[in-house]
Amino acid sequence: MSKAQATGNAPAPSHNQLDTKAQAWSALFSEPMSDLVKRYTSSVFFDKRLWQADIAGSLAHAEMLAAQGIISAEDHASIQRGMAQITSEIEAGSFEWKLDLEDVHLNIEARLTQLVGDAGKRLHTGRSRNDQVATDVRLWLRGEIDLIADLLKELQVSLVDVAEQNVEVILPGFTHLQVAQPVSFAHHMLAYVEMFARDAERMQDVRRRVNVLPLGSAALAGTTYPLDRERVARTLGMVDANGGAMVCQNSLDAVSDRDFAIEFTAAASLCMVHVSRLAEELIIWMSQNFGFIKIADRFTTGSSIMPQKKNPDVPELARGKTGRVVGHLMGLITLMKGQPLAYNKDNQEDKEPLFDTVDTLKDTLRIFAEMVGGQMNPATGKKEGGITVNAPAMEQAALKGYATATDLADYLVKKGLPFRDAHETVAHAVKAATTHACDLSELPLAVLQGFHPQIEKDVYECLSLRGSLNARNTLGGTAPAQVRVQLARHRARLA
Ligand code: ARG
Repeated sequence: MSKAQATGNAPAPSHNQLDTKAQAWSALFSEPMSDLVKRYTSSVFFDKRLWQADIAGSLAHAEMLAAQGIISAEDHASIQRGMAQITSEIEAGSFEWKLDLEDVHLNIEARLTQLVGDAGKRLHTGRSRNDQVATDVRLWLRGEIDLIADLLKELQVSLVDVAEQNVEVILPGFTHLQVAQPVSFAHHMLAYVEMFARDAERMQDVRRRVNVLPLGSAALAGTTYPLDRERVARTLGMVDANGGAMVCQNSLDAVSDRDFAIEFTAAASLCMVHVSRLAEELIIWMSQNFGFIKIADRFTTGSSIMPQKKNPDVPELARGKTGRVVGHLMGLITLMKGQPLAYNKDNQEDKEPLFDTVDTLKDTLRIFAEMVGGQMNPATGKKEGGITVNAPAMEQAALKGYATATDLADYLVKKGLPFRDAHETVAHAVKAATTHACDLSELPLAVLQGFHPQIEKDVYECLSLRGSLNARNTLGGTAPAQVRVQLARHRARLA
């Protein structure tokens, strides 16, 4: 502790500006904060990314204060002028962020007061940092959700592009990672499109609850000034589908609620889980044992010792980063569980997990859209460098593991056998094929007829991969005809 701190000799506050945080509430305090406490409690070095939202919120608040006659038109004009200057300073990188001023809110307010004097000090009328920070985070997150929505769309388009080129490509579908039944590669890609479409929907749903205004709740109980909260909400675009102002209806809840951040992180976690599942498949598919696909070299890295290696670092990292985002969800939800109403400083801890979730999700979606679908080549107007599909390797793999055994059972059912009996009969046929080390389709007709007399020559049609695929022509099935219906639906939806 310095001598000044030990003796409580805080530097005298200047009269027209907030130089340090202590001066925001200084008269009551007999000693300044220690450097360690300053560092521990400050958030400016991460929450400064909220600056645009903070300024937008302040301008909307000031506009309303003026309209309600709470501050003068001149003060409003001064605040606008000051904020314009601060905006250009921050954009130019010349704004000096001070740890002493704790957070983005106090930093900007102090600079405003330095620039425009008393008008700057009037900005905080009828407001608290509690409703201010909740508003800022909501505004910022709303913008990020919109960017994420675009990225989710891009990724879906990439998957649909790949699907469109591979409707007739057959790979083994797996259950328990054992060969199950042949499926179209397009069908497999479109399964992920379904997941990401749900993620996009969830994000829109979260957005509705993010886009609600806490400002005007002040510290916790509302304020004595005649604020027009709905006006502020409309200015900030916090409106419902009919243009009605969306305003938090309980001041205690408004300043302390972080459900919106938790919901967002939950939606982001689920989205990352979908990416992670896709990543896992890409990793398996590009292994030497599968060889189903290749991803472009720029998404892989070599090994420092094994010259032959190309490692799928990007999908692996996406799988790893999923753990990190799910961790943030746990962090946020735990952050809230013990908090009494209303605002508590615990809430400052919401920012880093939320920011990191947004950053990780955005980067991951962007990189996957490009890795799967390729990058636009302006010279050709086409996307290039997406995943390369090795159709023969996929078909070869589908020919192993008796992927058409169910088709043989279905064939017998159509001849009148109860399904359970057909299932048992085919089990014997598979056993025989295993003994002969051949596929079911390679068993001679006489051998097949030994399992059931009603088996005829046309059985080979249903034992082929293509016959099996075409036969699954029910809504949502893998038959190319069905896959094309789904492709058209997604194209129209994503247009
Ligand atoms: N930096 C704070 C946060 O992120 C702002 C609100 C502080 N409010 C307070 N009463 N200390 O939550």
